[in-house]
Amino acid sequence: MVIEEISEIDMAGKELLIVTGATGGLGKEISMYFAALATKDKGLYPILCCRNKDRAEELRECVEILGLSSNDYAIFLTDLSSSSSVDELATRIKSLNLPIRVLVNNAGSMFGNYQTNAEGIEMNMAVNFYAPARLGEMLASNVAHKGSIVNVVSLTRKHVDIESGFLKGNPNLYTRLGNYSKSKLALSVFTADMAARYPNIHINGVDPGVMNTKMIKMDRWFDKLADYLFRPFTLKPSQALKGIQAAYQNTADVSGYVFTRKKYFPMEKKTANHPLRQLIQATVCNSVK
Ligand SMILES: NC(=O)c1ccc[n+]([C@@H]2O[C@H](COP(=O)([O-])OP(=O)(O)OC[C@H]3O[C@@H](n4cnc5c(N)ncnc54)[C@H](OP(=O)(O)O)[C@@H]3O)[C@@H](O)[C@H]2O)c1
Repeated sequence: MVIEEISEIDMAGKELLIVTGATGGLGKEISMYFAALATKDKGLYPILCCRNKDRAEELRECVEILGLSSNDYAIFLTDLSSSSSVDELATRIKSLNLPIRVLVNNAGSMFGNYQTNAEGIEMNMAVNFYAPARLGEMLASNVAHKGSIVNVVSLTRKHVDIESGFLKGNPNLYTRLGNYSKSKLALSVFTADMAARYPNIHINGVDPGVMNTKMIKMDRWFDKLADYLFRPFTLKPSQALKGIQAAYQNTADVSGYVFTRKKYFPMEKKTANHPLRQLIQATVCNSVK
């Protein structure tokens, strides 16, 4: 796994703005937002985490058009479907010894068929739950006082439930949207749990709404129909960014909440007090060093 080196510059006094899935629909908006903040405040240092080198190069061009130079930010390449890559990313970030102003766990994926990673974890769970939960847990002690971990969740968490074998799932019951939603429910439960365990930092979810991004393309015949009937009513990622900005600014000083682009509210009790909360916590916490 390639992780780009940060050029030898004086990083003293800087705070990190970290986003995963930086090249995606919402991720690119977040990256540009962080870049714009860093052009105004030299104390902020964006770390843009991507998995695809070519897309990372395109992102680099966009960021530098805004006025950042290569000394002002870093792009880290990492594939979050593997736990060892998540560990490597956390170690790399920790080695900078800088406070984290915000970590936005934005990377996400939806898989057409049941598949597992090298550890046997169902892929939606691996990318959408296990990776962000472990990354957040490993980096929590580096988050600045009143800094934030922001987990991008989904409204679909409310329409499914998870069982004790949730990490591996059941191939016979697999559905694309169903298993994606289960992974977002697990991440939401963990968000509420972490918020209770780390009272000195903010840990919140953002529900961005239905956005017109690569994620909602099904690669099926009805995509063309959806282009006319459905997509015009979805949000642009630039609109959904408002929820991320609100969670980052967090003017109400809340934790364990869900932000949308229009409001914020405590994580619903059904999710926050999910019967598997202890198991979910143990699954993540027992796996981190
Ligand atoms: N679109 C919606 O309607 C919607 C609704 C609710 C929640 N969300 C959530 O919003 C977040 C952003 O999604 P989006 O709509 O912007 O989708 P997107 O355009 O498909 O972006 C997803 C990003 O995640 C990255 N990613 C996927 N798998 C990865 C992996 N294994 N390792 C590292 N990076 C990985 C992708 O990398 P590449 O650029 O290399 O593909 C991409 O940058 C996700 O968490 C998603 O679940 C989306």
